[in-house]
Amino acid sequence: MSVKTIYPKKGLKGEVRVPGDKSISHRSVMFGSIASGTTEITNFLQGADCLSTIRCFQKMGIEIEQKPDAVLVRGRGLYGLSAPEGTLDVGNSGTTTRLLSGILSGQDFTSVLSGDASLNSRPMGRVMSPLNSMGARIESVRNDGCAPLRIEPGVLHGIDYRSPVASAQVKSAVLLAGLYADGNTSVTEPVLSRNHTELMLGGFGAEVSSGVLKDGSAVAGIRPCKQLYGQKIRVPGDISSAAYFIAAGLVVPGSEILIRNVGTNPTRAGILKVCEAMGADLTYLDRNTADCQAKQETGGEPTADILVRSGSLHGTVIEGSIIPTLIDEIPIIAVMAACAEGTTVIRDAAELKVKETNRIDTVTENLKAMGCSVTPTEDGMVIEGGKTLAGARIRSYLDHRIAMAFAVAGMAAEGETVIEDSQCVDVSYPDFFATLESLS
Ligand code: S3P
Repeated sequence: MSVKTIYPKKGLKGEVRVPGDKSISHRSVMFGSIASGTTEITNFLQGADCLSTIRCFQKMGIEIEQKPDAVLVRGRGLYGLSAPEGTLDVGNSGTTTRLLSGILSGQDFTSVLSGDASLNSRPMGRVMSPLNSMGARIESVRNDGCAPLRIEPGVLHGIDYRSPVASAQVKSAVLLAGLYADGNTSVTEPVLSRNHTELMLGGFGAEVSSGVLKDGSAVAGIRPCKQLYGQKIRVPGDISSAAYFIAAGLVVPGSEILIRNVGTNPTRAGILKVCEAMGADLTYLDRNTADCQAKQETGGEPTADILVRSGSLHGTVIEGSIIPTLIDEIPIIAVMAACAEGTTVIRDAAELKVKETNRIDTVTENLKAMGCSVTPTEDGMVIEGGKTLAGARIRSYLDHRIAMAFAVAGMAAEGETVIEDSQCVDVSYPDFFATLESLS
C-alpha cells in the first residue's frame, strides 16, 4: 500500500495548471475513434481512467498515437471498430463502461466489458435498461446488474427515454446508441447533467438538440447519423481537479493560488457557486465565455483563470438542481464545510452512494477521524464546521477523490495526516501530490 504523509501548512502560494478534463478527454477519444479522419487532442488527461478508454479502442483496431504534445486518434468511422480479442478492461472507469456500452450496442460483434472490484460493483442497470429497450442485447454476466457486461449485436431503434437520474453517463450512452438507431432518440433527465456529449458530438457533425423545460427537466435529442468527422480538440483544465486547489487556497491560512485554464461549463461549475455562497474570495481572470476563438477551440467549453485567496468561510445549504453540477466535488466541498463557521447541509445527493466508493460513508468516516462532527443522511450529510481538524489516518478506499480531498484537509489540520492507498490519485490526477507540494 502506498501512503502519503501530509503536514499542516500556512501560506500556499503559486500558480497551478490543472490537467485536462477527464470527462472531455474520454469523449474526445471515443468520438474520435468512431469519426472519419484524424482527431487531434491537446491537453489530454493522462490519467488511468482515460488511458483505459484509449486501450479499449486500440483493442478494437483504432490507431491512437501518443505524441509529446498531442494524442492522435485515427478514426475509422461509425462502423470501423473491429471485434476485440478478449475482454475490454475498463479499469476503475464508470465513464468508459457506460459510454462504451452505448457505442458497442450498435456494433456487429460481441464484446465484454469488465473492470476492477469497485467498477464491477457499480450499477449498470441504469444503462442496460434503456439500451436494451432500444434493441441492444446487453447482459450482466453475473446477473447482478453490474459489470462484467456482455454486449451482443442488436438492431437499434430510436426511443424517448425518461431517465430517473440526472446522469451524464446514462444520457451519453443512450445518445451514442442513438447514432446507430433507425429513428430519432431523446433523453429527458430530471435536471440537467453535464452536457459535454451534446456539445462535442455536435462539433463532430451529429445532429444534436438540447434544452431545459419549464419544470427544470432537461431534454437532449439526437438523429441517426451516417458519419462523424475528426476534429481538433483542446481539452480545458478539469474543474474537478482545480477544486482541490480552490479549496486549499481557501482553507489554508495566508494562501493565494492562481489556477490557470479551468473549464467553467455551467453544468460542471457548481463548486464555484458554492464557494461564493460560503463567502469565498475568488477572482476570475482571462474568462472565455463568449463565442470567441478560444471557446471554439475547446469544443464549445468556456474556461477561466481563477485566483483564490484564503479567508473565512461560512456554512451553506447545497441541494436541488445544483447537485449534478458539483457531484464529484462533494468530498472536497465537505472538507471546506468542516473548515467553515457554522453548519453545512448537503441534500438530494443520493448518487454519492454509487460513485467509486459510497462517498456519503467514506467522507463521513474520514471527517469523523479528523474530529469533525458530521451526520450522514440518506441523500447527503450535515457538517458542523468551525473546529480545527486534527491530523488522522485517512482511508481512501482507493477512491481518488477521497485521497485528494483529505490531503487538502490534512494541510488545514493540526498534526500529521496519513493518506492510505494514495496512489489511487493516478485515476484522474497523477501529478496531484507533486503539484500540491510545489505550492508550499
Ligand atoms: C461523468 C458523469 C458523472 C460523474 C463522473 C463523470 C461523465 O457521473 O460523476 O465522474 O463523464 O459523464 P454520472 O453520470 O453517474 O452522474
